[in-house]
Amino acid sequence: MPTVVLGVTGCIGAYKACEVLRDLQRRDVDVHVVMTKHATEFVSAMTFEALSRHPVFLDQFALGAEGDIRHISLADAAQVLLVAPATANLLGKFARGIADDALTTLYLATKAKVVVAPAMNVNMFDHPAVRENLDILRARGVRIVEPGSGYLACGWLGRGRLAEPADIVSAAMDALGLTASGDLAGETVLVTAGPTVEDLDPVRFLSNRSTGRMGFALAETARDRGARVVLVAGPTSIEPPAGVDVVQVRSAEEMARAVGDRVGPATIVAMAAAVSDYRPAERAPSKLKKTPGEGTLVLTRTPDILATLGKSKGRRFVIGFAAETDRVLENARAKRAAKNADLLVANDVSRADSGFASEHNAAVLIDAEAETELPLMSKRALADRIWDRVLALRARPAPKALAKRAARPARRK
Ligand code: CTP
Repeated sequence: MPTVVLGVTGCIGAYKACEVLRDLQRRDVDVHVVMTKHATEFVSAMTFEALSRHPVFLDQFALGAEGDIRHISLADAAQVLLVAPATANLLGKFARGIADDALTTLYLATKAKVVVAPAMNVNMFDHPAVRENLDILRARGVRIVEPGSGYLACGWLGRGRLAEPADIVSAAMDALGLTASGDLAGETVLVTAGPTVEDLDPVRFLSNRSTGRMGFALAETARDRGARVVLVAGPTSIEPPAGVDVVQVRSAEEMARAVGDRVGPATIVAMAAAVSDYRPAERAPSKLKKTPGEGTLVLTRTPDILATLGKSKGRRFVIGFAAETDRVLENARAKRAAKNADLLVANDVSRADSGFASEHNAAVLIDAEAETELPLMSKRALADRIWDRVLALRARPAPKALAKRAARPARRK
């Protein structure tokens, strides 16, 4: 079993190290945790002990269970030393060779590959001292998992937020030489899944029967085929797949915002979510009381996420879904055209053996070239067939290249 030593330092992002640890374990990696004293102010050593099922290494002078000198035995056992989150202080000590605690001593003692995921306030991250330390580490072959941008815990907006656990894990897997390889390697896939929930008051809502299974199967298979996956999911009762970056949302508007925020690097988008087309015009702050006679619910339209993506998709491949109960193909063809999707997955949700809440689905894949009817199969198998079709379509020369080729005079033999 490959072994990663996970160093955790004192920063608000320390809780994300738990997710990194779990995700590495799901990929059959044995994880030992080393904490700095300050890290224990954020997450207790017991949490990491319970998750890793190994004692946490905190005190460089304590001997191991077999009387071994732990900063040496762990340093020898590690194939990768991963520090997430890595504070400015830790980066400084690594860069300058200061060894005054368990983690920094282990760094000097190990021959393992080193990966660090910095996290700190934006001004600290931009400080020349930190920049210089990062340059020293980079030059020494240390892999830096760049922090993300956004609102920081300190209230500032900017770069410095710990990278997403999925990115940290994929950097560690790379360093282990266990990089995902597959026909979607190098792609960033954004998948939406599940229903949206449109609140009417604090206890009532409008929603639909989607369970998220199809979207989760797409995310899982894309991950297995080597893609980096962002999964934007409405409320579901099933566990999202490991190793994908999950963004939980509730309403159609929240889903539109999350997709807008995360779609930038996506090369493929699969809109498998059953997005509500309407929401109550007003959300009552307290529980609505019944009144005599009939009631009327005023609804307003939600943003059409797929249509918006279709309008400015550039080279991004966009997949839409159509859950229909009648005139399935006719409606689905019209949806593909109206929303400018490259591929539309149409399914008949009136069938009892497939669709919502089922593990199985049958579908017709509609694209510019063909309509491919797929029989009833597991949602995972269907997801794989969808990716196969996406790859086949993407392998075709772009329409412009085809037009140029047609215009070129035939070469004389
Ligand atoms: N979709 C979306 N945003 C919405 C509604 C739907 O992105 N507000 C996406 C779904 O994720 C799916 C496709 O559009 O990929 C479905 O198209 P749509 O015409 O909205 O399907 P229905 O909601 O079933 O529409 P209708 O009720 O008109 O059949």
